[in-house]
Amino acid sequence: MQYKRILLKLSGEALMGNRQYGIDPKRLKEYAQEIKLVVDKGVEVAIVIGGGNIFRGVAGASNGMDRVQGDHMGMLATCINGLALQSALEDEGIHTRLQTAIEIKEIAEPYIKRRANRHLEKGRVVIFGGGTGNPYFTTDTAAVLRAIEINADAILKGTRVDGIYTADPEKDKDAVKYENITFKDVIEKGLKVMDMTAFTLSEENKLPIIVFDMNKKGNLMKLLSGEQIGTIVDN
Ligand code: GTP
Repeated sequence: MQYKRILLKLSGEALMGNRQYGIDPKRLKEYAQEIKLVVDKGVEVAIVIGGGNIFRGVAGASNGMDRVQGDHMGMLATCINGLALQSALEDEGIHTRLQTAIEIKEIAEPYIKRRANRHLEKGRVVIFGGGTGNPYFTTDTAAVLRAIEINADAILKGTRVDGIYTADPEKDKDAVKYENITFKDVIEKGLKVMDMTAFTLSEENKLPIIVFDMNKKGNLMKLLSGEQIGTIVDN
């Protein structure tokens, strides 16, 4: 396997499948099955999942809601998605632990780095909920932060596009995909991979980011087997 320990970042919206809101059980199951394939190969998997399928702090703020209040709701949304994913993974027979950045002890373990590492060493999938535990930060930033803390070899950002393109492939048919690109080039070309806070944190800590299509069956496994899937951003 290409990497021993990964941080898989999943978007909340992806969990909607074809719905307008919430969680599509079919999509959830598909994700769990994809993850099981690589866990069975001995890859240590930590996951950060967004909450946009339920609530986005920024969207709340643009409708006049207090931003901090909105972000707190978003953090809870990521915990809801984390619980759903935990349940789906357990249905596939995978051992999991959910750790949250905000304490909700009756529901999940609080985030403790050393404990997370121990769980991963034992082959458990660890889901990190609650973002960074702070408003004004995205779940991409939470993903990079946790990836660095647990010494992940790479962050795998599962999206609905299959990599980073010269332009938005959904809008520009002439857009060309990069196989490799440096952090510096992403910034110079003004490409969007993650928000700046997440991106620079990743660059400073030499954590490679791989953007790939998580909705295509078998892609996660192929990527970890060393096939050229998606785009790799590194130093
Ligand atoms: P090891 O000591 O490595 O075996 O880890 P472990 O997580 O199995 O140990 P522990 O006995 O601490 O946990 C057993 C179960 O309790 C696991 O399912 C944990 O996720 C859960 N658990 C542990 N601490 C908390 C907590 O603070 N809140 C909640 N809700 N569950 C917890």
